[in-house]
Amino acid sequence: MEMRLVLVAICLLLVTPIAGSFWTVGNQVVMDPMLICKKTRRLKGKTADICRKEPSLLKEIAKGVQVGTKECQYQFRNRRWNCTTMRRSLRKILLRDTRETGFVNAITAAGVTYAVTRACTMGHLVECSCDKMTSKGNRLDKLTRTVEMEKSLPTEGDWEWGGCGDNVKFGFKKSRDFMDAPYRKRSDIKTLVKLHNNNAGRLAIRDYMSTECKCHGLSGSCTVRTCWRKMPAFRDVGNRLKESFDGAAKVIPSNDGHSFITEGPTIKPPDRFDLIYSEDSPDFCKPNRKTGSLGTQGRRCNSTSQGVDGCELLCCGRGYDTRVVKEKISCECRFRWCCEVTCNTCLVKKTVNTCR
Ligand SMILES: *[C@@H]1O[C@H](CO)[C@@H](O)[C@H](O)[C@H]1NC(C)=O
Ligand SMILES: *[C@@H]1O[C@H](CO)[C@@H](O)[C@H](O)[C@H]1NC(C)=O
Repeated sequence: MEMRLVLVAICLLLVTPIAGSFWTVGNQVVMDPMLICKKTRRLKGKTADICRKEPSLLKEIAKGVQVGTKECQYQFRNRRWNCTTMRRSLRKILLRDTRETGFVNAITAAGVTYAVTRACTMGHLVECSCDKMTSKGNRLDKLTRTVEMEKSLPTEGDWEWGGCGDNVKFGFKKSRDFMDAPYRKRSDIKTLVKLHNNNAGRLAIRDYMSTECKCHGLSGSCTVRTCWRKMPAFRDVGNRLKESFDGAAKVIPSNDGHSFITEGPTIKPPDRFDLIYSEDSPDFCKPNRKTGSLGTQGRRCNSTSQGVDGCELLCCGRGYDTRVVKEKISCECRFRWCCEVTCNTCLVKKTVNTCR
C-alpha cells in the first residue's frame, strides 16, 4: 500500500513538469519569447527552428508580443481586470480558458503577425521583403480578395499593383509557426480554443487589409495609379478583437474529442473570426491567488458613467472615495514667430474617485 503511494507520487513528480511545460512554455509567450526558446532547447519543430536559426525574427516576435500587450492594456484599461502583466495575475489568467485568456491569446498572435509583417516591409529581415503583386488591376485572385480590399480598390481609371505592399502572408505564417506549433498535436479543449483564438487574432489583420494607391502623371492628373496592400492600424485590430471579446461564445468539447461545439443549441456557432472560451470568468472584484484577480480596490472610476468604468460596476458595489487633486497642465499656449510654442503651467482642480 505504502509502496503504491510512493509510486504514484513519483509518477506525479515525473509527469507534471512535462505535461506542464507545454502550457508554461506557451504562457510565457506573452511576457518573453526568449524564455520560450530557453525552455524549448530540448524540443524539435518550428518553434525551436526559429529560436535556433532566426534570431532577428525572434526579436521581431518579441516586439510583436509587446505591441499586443500594449493594445490589450488599452482595450481593457477600464475593466476590472486591466490586462496587467504582473506575473501573479497574467500567469493565472493564461492557465485558464476564459474570455480574457482568449483575448490575450488573440491580440498576441495578431501583434506578432503585425510586427513581423511590418519588419518585412521595412526591410529589417533577410528572410522576407515587401509584397510585390504583379497582376494587373482588377484581377485579384480569390485567395487575396477580402471585403476591405474590394471596398478600397479604385473603381475607375487605370491602375496596377506596385510599390511596397505589406507581406502579411509571411507574418501570418511566422506567427503560426511560433505560437501554434507546440500545440499542433494536441486536441484537448483548451488547446483547440487557444488555436482558434490565435487564428482569429491573425485573421483580424490578414482579412482586413486595405488598398492604398498613389497617383502618377502630369501635375497630379492621376492618369496612372499604383496600388499596394496595407495592414489595418493596430488600434483597429484591437477594436475589432474587443468586439469579438464582447460577443465571445462559450464552447464545450464535442463527442468526437477533436472539436468543440457551442454550449447550448440556441447560440450561433462561432465563425473563424469570433473569440471563444470554455470557462466562465471570475468577477475580478477581490484579490484571488487562484484566479489571478488583483481586485479593484484603489482603481480610478467614473462616477457618472453607467458602463464598465463606472464606479458602481468597477467597485463591485463597495462604494468609492472622492478626492480633489490639483493637476498641472499646459495652458495659455502662444505661437511665437517663428516657430516655437510657449505655454504656461496651470493648476487645475480635478475630482478623482477611487474604489474602496
Ligand atoms: C491595473 O489594475 C491593478 C490592480 O487592479 C492596478 O494596481 C494597476 O495600477 C492598474 N493599471 C493601470 C494601468 O491602470
Ligand atoms: C465619465 O463618464 C461620462 C459618461 O459616460 C463621460 O461623458 C465622461 O467623459 C467620463 N469622464 C472621464 C474623466 O472619463
